[in-house]
Formats: sequence, C-alpha cells, structure tokens
Amino acid sequence: MSRNPTRKTCIALMGAAGGAGVTGAVIETGYAAMKVKPAAGNAAPRVCLMDLDFENGALASYLDIAAGIDTGVMAGDPARIDGALTSAFVTKHDSGLRLLAAPGRLGGNDGVNPNCVLALMDAAATLYDVLVLDVPRLWQPWTQAALMASDRAVMMTDMSIPALHSARERMAQIEAITQPGRPMDIVINKHERRSFRATVTATDAQQALGRPVTAFVAVDPATPRNAMNCGQPAGSLQADSRYAKDMAALMKVLMSPADNAARKAAG
Ligand SMILES: Nc1ncnc2c1ncn2[C@@H]1O[C@H](COP(=O)(O)OP(=O)(O)OP(=O)(O)O)[C@@H](O)[C@H]1O
Ligand SMILES: [Mg+2]
Repeated sequence: MSRNPTRKTCIALMGAAGGAGVTGAVIETGYAAMKVKPAAGNAAPRVCLMDLDFENGALASYLDIAAGIDTGVMAGDPARIDGALTSAFVTKHDSGLRLLAAPGRLGGNDGVNPNCVLALMDAAATLYDVLVLDVPRLWQPWTQAALMASDRAVMMTDMSIPALHSARERMAQIEAITQPGRPMDIVINKHERRSFRATVTATDAQQALGRPVTAFVAVDPATPRNAMNCGQPAGSLQADSRYAKDMAALMKVLMSPADNAARKAAG
C-alpha cells in the first residue's frame, strides 16, 4: 500500500474576530481529511494539526492531549529542527490526528524565531500528507510566511456585521502582502439558515464581504461544545451532526485539486 500520491496539502485557518470557530474548524477539517476514502491502493492521508499560537493556543486542550513543542527550541537555531526533532514534538490523539502545539505561557510568542516556525512546518510537511494550521488572530512575525506557504488560506467569520467588516478589511490587507491574485477563502461559521427580518442574510453577508463565500457552516452550539468537552473531533462523536457534515464539506472544497489548480491558473 502506498501513500497518497496527490501532493501534500497545507491549509491555514484564521479568524476575523475572536471566537469565530477556528480552533474547532482546524480539528474538524483535519479529521475530515483523514477520513477521506483514499483511492484504491493508497493509505489514508496522515494529518497533522499545527498551532501557531505559542501563547494562547487551544488545540491541545480541545483535544485533551499534551502540547509537545519545546518552546526553547523555537527561539533557537532553525537548522536544529529536522524530521526527528519534529517527530519528538508531535503528540498523538486516539482519533489518528497528530498535533504540533506548544504549552501556552504568558509571552509565549515573544522570542519565537519565525524561521524556526517555517522549519517546523517544512519538517512536518515531509512527515504528513495534510497540515492544518491554526493561525493566531494577532499578527505574528511568522504569520505572513505561514500563509504564503499554505495552499489555501481561510478567513473564518460569523455573521455579525463587525466581524464581516473585519474579515473584509483583514483579507484585503493580507492579500496585499501574501498571495497577489490568489484570494483567501472566506468561510461563514455559525450560519443560521432560516432568515428572520432582523438577522443578516447570506446575501447581506456576501455583499458586506465583497466576494462570494467559499462555504457556510451551520450554527450548532451543542455539537462543538460536546466535542470540546470530550476531547474528540465532532466528526467522530456526532458524524451526522450539521456541524460535522458542514466541516467535512468544507474540507472537500479546500482539498479539491481541480479547484486549487483553477485558482492558481487565475492567479
Ligand atoms: N458552528 C457553530 N455553531 C455554534 N457554535 C459554534 C460553532 N462553531 C464554533 N462554535 C463555538 O464558538 C466558540 C469558539 O470556538 P473556537 O474556540 O473554535 O473559536 P476560535 O476562533 O478558535 O476562538 P479564539 O479567537 O479564542 O481562538 C466555542 O464555544 C464553540 O463551541
Ligand atoms: Mg482558537
């Protein structure tokens, strides 16, 4: 059995506002990528989640596993970071997901060498088929490079007007310095399908954003809350939930080779 021959994929997710649902989405999309039925003769993709917030990262606690990165190493010489060291930093979740995260501490982002972050991403890309990045909302010295190294960069927002405005503004600023011609994906989380007069509709949201939305994820408070409290992906606990299904559909779009090729050609 061979590994999936399709090229490696790196997906970055960041939030337009706090609590947009990024950390949960990183777990769900990673889980969905691992569960994609491989072509005959291929093994399931190996998936690693990476928390790029060394101060406030929550991926390890959402999955209820240890955070294994030695932050001292991240402030040192990037040449030290190879596959063996990266493997030693990886923690394993019983779902099959792998995690690269640092134990959070006050000021944990200070002193991190951006080249160490890139070296860790490079090493992880040789070890895994799919990398999903949880990118902190506060801009860090490694954010630009991490977004540029990703195949798709997602801005996640909810339907509130301030978050939609922030998403539009942040995407414009980020695109100006990262991927000219390769737009970010916008994903609306906590989407309420039924529209009431007083709420923002999908059409209003697309107008406020000034671009089409790549995907919507339905509002479903109980499912991500249960998942978080059980330390498991919602996809494994409640695969039939709207939340897990929408996240799986999102990952399908983000990993679509045809879609990615079209975007590159347009760029
Ligand atoms: N589709 C959804 N429907 C309802 N609630 C959701 C949905 N997605 C996420 N949530 C809830 O939103 C809250 C924030 O989720 P999460 O921590 O994943 O967001 P975040 O963007 O990573 O936040 P932060 O800005 O703190 O890093 C959680 O309580 C989670 O359960
Ligand atoms: Mg988060």
